[in-house]
Amino acid sequence: MAQETSLDVGPVVLLGPPGAGKGSQAKRIMEHYCIPQVSTGDILRRHIAEGTDAGLVAKAVMARGELVSDVLVCEMVRQRLKQPDCKRGYVLDGFPRTAAQAGWLDALLDDKLFDNSRPTRAWPIVIRLDVDYNQLLLRITGRRSCPTCGRIYNVHFQPPRADEVCDVEGCKLVIRNDDRLEVLQPRLSAYEEQTRPVAGYYQRTGRLMSVDGDLPMDEVTRRIFRIIEDHQA
Ligand code: AP5
Repeated sequence: MAQETSLDVGPVVLLGPPGAGKGSQAKRIMEHYCIPQVSTGDILRRHIAEGTDAGLVAKAVMARGELVSDVLVCEMVRQRLKQPDCKRGYVLDGFPRTAAQAGWLDALLDDKLFDNSRPTRAWPIVIRLDVDYNQLLLRITGRRSCPTCGRIYNVHFQPPRADEVCDVEGCKLVIRNDDRLEVLQPRLSAYEEQTRPVAGYYQRTGRLMSVDGDLPMDEVTRRIFRIIEDHQA
């Protein structure tokens, strides 16, 4: 991939169904533009691992493949975006995921009281990754991740050098609890019913860009970087 750049980027929103590549591409955006990845799925999994009250509520909901309540998730995002590392921009991975969350995000970015920590560009660049259904199944069932550094692998498409072991940390890779086949269908239904309308929300306001997420990982990254840089120009 191209060299790192430290230009102000503003908020980037990655939309797409489970397995579309949001997390993988968010990590590349983070490394290339030196802005943080704000993944609501990762934040929720951290709460679950730490056994917080929010984690206890989220655990059962996520295990069923449903969406956690807007109130809980929005508050987590608000707290995270107040951190100083979000000032130059950030990449939202897995948020917003409902029309209510999208409206809430616009209101937050427009809120003068939030001015202290808002990034230089208020309106997000919204990029949707479109991926074929059968490809999604392979991606989700083949996904493995490193419990230490969070790197994402895939036994079909991006296998680690040694079987089931992280290339960087050397520890055993894990399978996410909600990547079980029986949870997959509810997750995909939640996307169709609750998250697809979010793309419509951004499309109506002329802010939606689409990328063919079926392409090889590096090509998807190249197209995303081009969108971000066109937006900066
Ligand atoms: P979350 O963690 O956000 O999961 P998700 O949206 O279901 O997305 P995934 O993480 O499954 O996929 P991804 O698009 O990041 O793909 P990845 O890069 O890993 O959410 C989990 C749960 O938390 C939700 O179900 C919900 O309960 C709750 N939640 C989270 N946010 C919420 C919110 N805002 N509101 C309410 N509830 C919320 O890639 C997948 C695999 O494909 C990998 O193995 C990767 O190596 C491979 N791959 C990626 N790109 C390519 C490519 N181009 N070619 C080949 N392989 C590829």
